[in-house]
Amino acid sequence: MNLIKKMLAANVAVLALWAVSAQAATNDEIAERIKPVGEVCIQGEECKGVAAVAASAGGGAKTPDDIIAAHCGACHTAGVLGAPKIGDTAAWKERADHQGGLDGILAKAISGINAMPPRGTCADCSDEDLLGAIKKMSGL
Ligand code: HEC
Repeated sequence: MNLIKKMLAANVAVLALWAVSAQAATNDEIAERIKPVGEVCIQGEECKGVAAVAASAGGGAKTPDDIIAAHCGACHTAGVLGAPKIGDTAAWKERADHQGGLDGILAKAISGINAMPPRGTCADCSDEDLLGAIKKMSGL
């Protein structure tokens, strides 16, 4: 009988400890546990997910392929909203001829033109980054 009492007491102690540790979770810990798996990126705001992917792919430096995959491809792969398609050199050349060469269409890519957003949504791309992506997409 004595032994059973001891065992019960031990169980109560374990239960009490468990209850205390369960209470110890802070709101931050709970928020961390229930946060959504994906994150939405909004144009004009820093997008941590994309930056992390780009950094892991290029070790920090952005290659034209990284930039195209993360930004330009969304429209230029399928030609969304009349965007010149990747690899359709004739379409890019016609634009370049109208704008006075690669520098001309680079200027439009920087400022934005019609449905084409400024810097093609890559706010932290340098002018050289954008030119590299344009050369790669156009083949010019
Ligand atoms: C939201 C869709 C979208 C994204 C993202 C996008 N573009 Fe475009 N882009 C367009 C559209 C649409 C046009 C055609 C605009 C027109 O002439 O009406 C265009 C045109 C261009 C042109 C030709 C400009 C000219 O003078 O004719 C260049 C250069 C260009 N894009 C570069 C880029 C680069 C580089 C990126 C990525 C960093 C990018 N775009 C991302 C939609 C997009």
